[in-house]
Amino acid sequence: MCGIYGYIGEKSVCEVMKGIKRLEYRGYDSAGIAIQTDLPFAEDGNTRNGDGITTIKNKGEISNLEKIVLNRVVKSNVAIGHTRWATHGQPNIKNSHPHLSHDGKWAIVHNGIIENYLELKEQLSSDFFVSETDTEVVAQMLEKYYNGDVLSTIKMVCEKLKGSYAFAIITSHCKNKIFVARQNSPVVVGYGKNYSVVCSDINSIKGDRILMIENGQFAVLEKGKLSVYDNCLKEIDINELGEIEKAGGEKLGDYSHYMQKEIEEIPIAIKRTVKAYANVETLEKILPKKRFEKIKNILIIGCGTAYHAGLVGQRLFEEEGIFCESAIASEFRYKPFTERKNTLAIFVSQSGETADTIGALKLCKQKGLKTLAITNVKNSSITFAADYCIYTNAGSEIGVASTKAYNCQLAVFYILSKYFNYLKHGDLKAYDEEIKNLRRIAKLIKYNDNKHICSKLAQKIHKARSIYMIGRGLDYNIAQEASLKLKEISYIHCEAYPAGELKHGTISLIDKNTFVFAFVTQEKIKDKTFGNINEVVAREGKIILFSPFDNANKKVCEEVKVPKIKERYYPLFIINYLQLISYYTALLLGNNPDKPRSLAKSVTVE
Ligand code: AGP
Repeated sequence: MCGIYGYIGEKSVCEVMKGIKRLEYRGYDSAGIAIQTDLPFAEDGNTRNGDGITTIKNKGEISNLEKIVLNRVVKSNVAIGHTRWATHGQPNIKNSHPHLSHDGKWAIVHNGIIENYLELKEQLSSDFFVSETDTEVVAQMLEKYYNGDVLSTIKMVCEKLKGSYAFAIITSHCKNKIFVARQNSPVVVGYGKNYSVVCSDINSIKGDRILMIENGQFAVLEKGKLSVYDNCLKEIDINELGEIEKAGGEKLGDYSHYMQKEIEEIPIAIKRTVKAYANVETLEKILPKKRFEKIKNILIIGCGTAYHAGLVGQRLFEEEGIFCESAIASEFRYKPFTERKNTLAIFVSQSGETADTIGALKLCKQKGLKTLAITNVKNSSITFAADYCIYTNAGSEIGVASTKAYNCQLAVFYILSKYFNYLKHGDLKAYDEEIKNLRRIAKLIKYNDNKHICSKLAQKIHKARSIYMIGRGLDYNIAQEASLKLKEISYIHCEAYPAGELKHGTISLIDKNTFVFAFVTQEKIKDKTFGNINEVVAREGKIILFSPFDNANKKVCEEVKVPKIKERYYPLFIINYLQLISYYTALLLGNNPDKPRSLAKSVTVE
């Protein structure tokens, strides 16, 4: 959610443009760059000269900014850039970052939210403001409170802020430096010979040596040099800071979209997850028997797709006789906390940066629960916040719509459920069997020739105004994730419903123009769902059925006969169809599936 990139060194403007391009998946409402330069530019709607600093901004994707920046000869050794996901004010040029102070001597880019910005704004002259953002308040405060020392001014201003931030700041009071501050929003810094760099995303920074900045710390970047300070401005020996292993950037290759590539990678990603935990000893090292054998209750928390993976996880733990609840992180945080004994709280997050999930984790930790993170991103914030951590190993996921990461989160839950069974009953056979089964499912997904049927179904539904998805038990969980996937990239209204609940109200919306996807994979409850399907058919709703069972009602609109596999694996298997259908539908509607409107890959604000 928003991306920051700053660079000191030769060709800083080019480096920043490349940097924010790599971050574009985090937000793409507007973008901007601030350049330290003594040669003012011709001002226009996009360009504003400060005092020794010029900002250039544009609406929309970074390519729009690129057109105006790369058309000019811009030479500077210091630049900071930003790609925005709007939180305060519309995504227009004025609200884009970087923001200049009124005297033009400070420029700032920001990730996060300043919660008390309105209160702070009242203490500043209203004539100074050009935007509606919380960030501009900080720019004006830096000007107002400047005390002759840049770093101590930044510290003093930060102390007045409530909320979350990662800042990169340049100022003509102290040229050739970038100042960085962090509170609850991730930021990393790096340096090498003749350059230094700051970035909000571990996976998008390029640098020889990369270090994580902790909450409350400050960093000062110079050409080839980096200094880090604690919250009292005492310098920290950077050799004592956690160095970060660089993650390789992912290339699109021959694919049209990351989403397409990532769906294609699902089998290999599942295999990688399974391989990592194929030997029970690996999990025994991460979650030692002594500390986990007494666990009686599990609480699973996440947002969006990660929450949906947790819902499947819940059923898998319940199958093993373990009491389990799931919660949406943003809801859980603000409801009364019920004391729980012998409880493990599991937090699922692809990015490891989701503010709500991390907030819920901190709360559980405070209340004395053991916390385990399931994440895809090494060194992400959640890995430092949780007591224990399991990686999904899906490989980087760039498409905003989560696909392979979801499948790998499920794979981890399948394995974990059998691990807890092993801790309770010592049943190693069941654990090994689980590993084999997951490998089989990965193979089945790989060789399942479903592209044609998925594209045909996308053709069928892409003009629909409203779609429903129904199922019971695990089939309802399939419907939940499938419906989120479809709506987030097709923008078609789509709702998941427990099949048996439809008749309690929502069925009144079903008519001959309504498509209803029905998932029927669980033997025990199949007849009940078939009954609910009949109710939909009776109202002329168009059923698209996914099932391995013979269907008694021949009046369905489309039937996808899926192979017979062990029932518990259907969420892992069937979602692949729905990921593809969503992808094809988005394409038919002319939407970019990698950058759906109004969304961002990691949601680092509440
Ligand atoms: C998934 O397609 C969504 N983009 C979204 O729901 C996402 O899963 C959610 O924001 C949680 O993200 P996380 O896994 O990085 O915490």
